[in-house]
Amino acid sequence: MSAPIGIIGGSGMYELLTETEPVVVDTPYGPPSQAPARGVLGGREVVFLPRHGADHRFAPHRIPYRANLWALRALGVRQVVTSCAVGGLVPELAAGTVVVPDQVIDRTWDRAHTYYDAEGPVVHVPFAEPYCPRGRAAAVAAAQAGPLPAVDGGTMVVIQGPRFSSRAESRRNARDGGTVVNMTAMPETALARELALCCTTLALVTDADAGVEGGEHVTQEAVLELFAANVSKLSGILEATVAALPEDECSCQQVLDGQKLPLTLP
Ligand code: ADE
Repeated sequence: MSAPIGIIGGSGMYELLTETEPVVVDTPYGPPSQAPARGVLGGREVVFLPRHGADHRFAPHRIPYRANLWALRALGVRQVVTSCAVGGLVPELAAGTVVVPDQVIDRTWDRAHTYYDAEGPVVHVPFAEPYCPRGRAAAVAAAQAGPLPAVDGGTMVVIQGPRFSSRAESRRNARDGGTVVNMTAMPETALARELALCCTTLALVTDADAGVEGGEHVTQEAVLELFAANVSKLSGILEATVAALPEDECSCQQVLDGQKLPLTLP
């Protein structure tokens, strides 16, 4: 079999596989959010890791992002597919829509956001295209064939949380070109790139953030309720995405080729 595919489940997606084998893995950055579960999905070998832990014990700013991505790579993963809940920043994105983002704006702070902060060779990875083009194509096709409205492309604004945005912040995020907002896509997406992992995200719109055009503002209960109502459909799209991922090497996996690194990758 080819390399396993890593799946990071977001809020409301704590289990995905029916028959699993938990794998205890430690990393130089401590343990991941949860022992990853190895199994099969869409005919492919996968490793599933719930981002917040299976009992949702890690708030967005406390998630061990570096340990999570490192653990997946240590288990042989070279392609990662993530799911998350997002607020919609534009009226066209109604709750229940699946967005496959192609850009991010990072508004997080004070999170361990890089592997390359020790003294030694300096590494600057490219990030103009934060997401894997081939993974995105697979995810867009799967989402468009699925039961939920699907949108190809979007700019994910990542806020620090754990609180939601004020109306003024929400308006600014939309003015800046954001179409969806969440709290966890960074530094996760950048760390994936720093480990030369392909990264693709399926974002489920759960709310209209602080009230796009004067609508209802978001609450935690509304996010979880909307996500729970759609999680099986989203899981089906995730499975179809995983099944369609290419098996050969992608350019995302070559970003460190020829570079001197200050650490030894797993
Ligand atoms: N996750 C789901 N909805 C969100 C919102 N409105 N803001 C930030 N993160 C979210």
